[in-house]
Amino acid sequence: MSHTPIIAGNWKLHMNPEQTTEFVNAVKDKLPDPSKVESLICAPAVDLDALRKAAKGSNLHIGAENCYFEDEGAYTGETSPKVLKEMGMDYCIIGHSERRGYFHETDEDINKKAKAIFANGLKPIICCGESLETREANKQENWVVAQIKAALDGLTAEQVSSLVIAYEPIWAIGTGKTASSDQAEEMCKTIRETVKDLYNEETAENVRIQYGGSVKPANVKELMAKPDIDGGLVGGASLKPESYLELVNYQD
Ligand code: G3H
Repeated sequence: MSHTPIIAGNWKLHMNPEQTTEFVNAVKDKLPDPSKVESLICAPAVDLDALRKAAKGSNLHIGAENCYFEDEGAYTGETSPKVLKEMGMDYCIIGHSERRGYFHETDEDINKKAKAIFANGLKPIICCGESLETREANKQENWVVAQIKAALDGLTAEQVSSLVIAYEPIWAIGTGKTASSDQAEEMCKTIRETVKDLYNEETAENVRIQYGGSVKPANVKELMAKPDIDGGLVGGASLKPESYLELVNYQD
C-alpha cells in the first residue's frame, strides 16, 4: 500500500474555471515525481471540468471538496459521487469543519458519504478536528477519536488502508495560527493508534494522515518531518501557483 506523502490544496469557495485552467497550466510541469509526493487539488464543483481538462496527462491528482451520499435522486443542489467518478476525480474531501459547522453535517452523514465514495471507486479525505473550546477543556483527544470511529464505522481494513484522514484543529484554520508541529504530531499519532485499535497494525501503517491549519511554505518541512504526518491539507496557501509549488516540492 502506498505511503507516499500527499499534499492537497483545498480551494474552498475560491477560483472560477478560467482561473483554474491558468493555475494548472502554471504548475503542471513543475510538480514533484508522484512516487515521492502526491500533488492534489480539490476544487469547487463548478471548476471540476476545467480542472480535469487542464490536468490531463500531468502528475496532478484531482478531487472535489464535498459530495452527497446518494448517486442520484431528488436532492436539489447536491453533487453525485457517481458523477464525480465519471468526471475523472480521484478524491473527495468529506467532513471538513466548515461543512460540519455551517451546513450541519453529522458524523452519520460523513460515514454515509465515505461509503458512497468507496462504492463509486473514489477515495475519501476524511476531516476531523476540535474547536478551541474543546482544546481548552483538554477534551480534544476524545473528540477526535469519536469523530474517527464514527466516520470509519463499517469500512473494511482494505478501504481504510487506501483513504486519507486530515486532522485540522478548527482554531488553526485560516487564522494564521498553526498547531505546533508537536501538537499536530501528537494528534496524528493518536489517530493512527485509533486505526490500529479498530483494525490492525498494517492498516494503521497504510492510512495516510494529513495535518491542516495554516500550512504554508514556511512550516511545511517541519510538519512533514514528523513521523505520523503524511501530508498537508492546505487552504489559503494553495491558491497561488508559486506557493502551491513550494509546498508540494518541500523535499527539494
Ligand atoms: O482544508 C484546509 C484547511 O481548512 C486549512 O485552511 O490552510 O487556509 O488554514 P488554511
